[in-house]
Formats: sequence, structure tokens, C-alpha cells
Amino acid sequence: MSTRTVIRGGLVITASDELHADVLIEDGRIAALATSGTTVADGWTAEKVIDATGKYVIPGGVDAHTHMEMPFGGTKAADTFETGTRAAAWGGTTTIVDFAIQSVGGALREGLDAWHAKAEGNCAIDYGFHMIVSDVNEDTLKEMDLLVQEGVTSFKQFMAYPGVFYSDDGQILRAMQRAADNGGLIMMHAENGIAIDVLVEQALARGERDPRYHGEVRKALLEAEATHRAIKLAQVAGAPLYVVHVSAMEAVAELAKARDEGLPVFGETCPQYLFLSTDNLAEPDFEGAKYVCSTPLRPKEHQAKLWQGLRTNDLQVVSTDHCPFCFVGQKEMGRGDFSKIPNGMPGVENRMDLLHQGVVDGHISRRRWIEIACASPARMFGLYPKKGTIAPGADADVVIYDPHAEQTVSAETHHMNVDYSAYEGKRLTGRVETVLSRGELVITEREYTGHAGHGVYTPRSTSQYLN
Ligand code: URP
Ligand code: ZN
Ligand code: ZN
Ligand code: ZN
Repeated sequence: MSTRTVIRGGLVITASDELHADVLIEDGRIAALATSGTTVADGWTAEKVIDATGKYVIPGGVDAHTHMEMPFGGTKAADTFETGTRAAAWGGTTTIVDFAIQSVGGALREGLDAWHAKAEGNCAIDYGFHMIVSDVNEDTLKEMDLLVQEGVTSFKQFMAYPGVFYSDDGQILRAMQRAADNGGLIMMHAENGIAIDVLVEQALARGERDPRYHGEVRKALLEAEATHRAIKLAQVAGAPLYVVHVSAMEAVAELAKARDEGLPVFGETCPQYLFLSTDNLAEPDFEGAKYVCSTPLRPKEHQAKLWQGLRTNDLQVVSTDHCPFCFVGQKEMGRGDFSKIPNGMPGVENRMDLLHQGVVDGHISRRRWIEIACASPARMFGLYPKKGTIAPGADADVVIYDPHAEQTVSAETHHMNVDYSAYEGKRLTGRVETVLSRGELVITEREYTGHAGHGVYTPRSTSQYLN
């Protein structure tokens, strides 16, 4: 028996259009759109009618960079797939792409199987996987082809973290050459980790131990240098490149220059780089540890360049890099030695709202908001148009968004499994009201009505961004 839902009276916003339309959902998919009040829309009958008068009707967010329960820095990210995807839904995100990890000496398959086991049956929203490649060898390269065929079409490599996830230039080149052949997309953590480790050692020897030194040793120039090198390696390999968590304006300049030359290089930034800065890292009493992530927060003047990059499409995607560690017991592991603070910040619940604030503040248009948070990540990672838009045939992943609601962000009220908010006390205009995932109500007028196990693994095609 088919189930029908109608969302009436809202302003439907996609990456390309804004229109006052009613949306018909049938069997978990968008069936049709019709101008509000037309006889077509009036004739629609449905079991469920949602009134969206005065609200936005937008595609569910696609967060293409999360790390649920990721083991890192001697501990594990505090959100499980269950708690993290529930929090994502609260924030209007209906798809995440998380990172499965190959351990050094292990096979990609082992890592991927382990991540499937963590996620399966636990997610409130749909999910896919990228693969972190930490050990490039002949077997790994062959496995990359198989993974692309089964919907894991993107591979993260690290120029940072020597001895952990680090790949040298030769390993990176080999993986890029393989991706050029099999249609995969290499995602790069672009920081010169070898040079950073020298600066860390020297800083600690000088007695510089507070969280703010994390930002000082991980220099913007070393992000720019690695970004430049990754671009050149990709050019040699004939492969596209996606640079993750770009925070330095010098790195944006490298991407912009390469794109001006016509190279298929793409960049992602994250809300923390748009709204927070080294001032946060310098907060006293070790509070700065809450803001330790890599690439690090930068001085405030970088923020304007990141917003600019988002407007000019030199940056295409905003993801969260959600990798939460509690202050108590986890961030505290680095008291007296900033290099032992687990790297990562919470944010999966805040992204759609923070970017809407970017609309309110005049940095981006409403359509660009939807593009960088929904459509572009879906296209970039082979999920479009199933995800990332509201169009006939798309999954009915829909958010009813109240653009006038006022909220104050706080750990007291958020749903992420972490004991602080990076945006504590920040006042925002706009709030998620209702969320549907494949037509099912996950959040209903600010009540959780979803369930663990509703979210399913979503295999991806190769990146559509180049088409
Ligand atoms: O600090 C961060 N970004 N932690 C998560 C791992 C990564 O490098 O993305
Ligand atoms: Zn990274
Ligand atoms: Zn990450
Ligand atoms: Zn369900």
C-alpha cells in the first residue's frame, strides 16, 4: 500500500530554484511539486499533510565528512553512529558520509567491514563511507577498484600524522594514478606533517605546552604547501582532487589558482573555520583544548577569505569533520602537552543552522546555502539526485526550516554525545522544525520521532561533479 504525504505552503529552496510549492511524497520519494494553491496541488490527497506556511522546505543536509566513534589519539570519538546520526537529524542533516579506516598492515576490506558493523542497524539517517587509505601497496591499490564498484568511491589520504595515517608523496601518487583509472576521488588532508612534527618538538622543548601552540605549529604556510603539492601530484597523475577541511586563506589561493588553470580540484571547509578562530584556541584554563582540530583554527582574517571562496566556488562544500571528544577525560589527555589533545571538534548538529546564519549575515545566498550543504556534497560524492535536492524521483529527505526562529546554541540542549559546544551561547536565527528521511518523520516539530536502524547504507556512484 502506498503512503502519501503532502507538505503545503512552504518556500521550496534548492541549489537552483526558490518557489512557493507544495510537495507530494509517495513511498519515500518526492513524487511531484506543484505551485501552491493550484488545482493540481489542491487535488492531492494524502494520509499526512504538513503545513509549512512561512517556512522553508529544503533538501536534507548531506554531511560528507564525519568520524563517528573514530579511534584517534589514544581514545575514541564520543558519538556513536546511533547518537551521532540522531544529532545530525536534529540539525537537519539526513545523510552522512563517514570514514572507514584501513589500519597500517591491514586490508581496506577489513576496515570497511568493521565500519559497516559499527553502523548497521544503528543509524537514524542514511549513511555512506569513504575509505581512509593509510597503507598504499599493490594489494591496497587493487582493492580500491573493488571498493569503487561497491559504492565506496572516495579515498582519504593524509600528508599529516607521520606514523599514523601518513602517506608519502610516492604513495599518494600511486593512489592518485589508481583513482584516475577507476573513477575514484582522492580526498586529501593537506598539511606538511613531517615539518609540523619538527615544530611540535621544538615548541615543547621551549616549554610551549598550551592548546594555542597547536595553532602556531600547524602553520598556514604548511597547509598551503601541502595543498600545492597535492594539486601538482594530482595533475601528474591526471586525477581529480578534493582537499578536505581547508582553513588557511593561502590554501584557498592555491585551489583558486589551480581552478583558474582548469584543473579539476575541489575544496571543502567547515563551520568551525568560518565562525571560530585562534582566539578560541587561546581561551584560558585549558578551555582552548575544545577547539583543537587539524587543520587548526586560523586568525579571524581567514574567515572572510573562506566565505569568499564559497561564493566564488573555489570552495564547493561545507562539511563538519565532526569528530567529538569530551572535554572531561578526553581533551584533558593533553593538559601540559598540546600535542596529546585528541584532534577533532563536534558540529554535525550545527552545520545547517550555522550556514543559514551565513545567509542571515549576508555571506551567501539561500540557494548557495543549499548548494554547499546539500547539492554539492551529494554531487561530489555520487549521491545526486537521490540526495541533495527536492525533485521528482529524489529520496524524500526533506527539512521544514523556520527561518525566523531564534535559538541559542548550548551543550545543555544539543543532542551530540559530548560535554561541550564549540558555539556555546551563540545566538542564531533559524532552526530546524521537522525532518523527513525517505518520507518518514525523524524530527516532528522539534520532537525526535525517528529510530535507530531507519538509516541504511547508501552506495555511491563516482563523483558527478566533473560532468
Ligand atoms: O582534527 C581533526 N580533523 N580530526 C579528525 C581527523 C581528520 O583529520 O579529519
Ligand atoms: Zn583530516
Ligand atoms: Zn576528518
Ligand atoms: Zn524507519
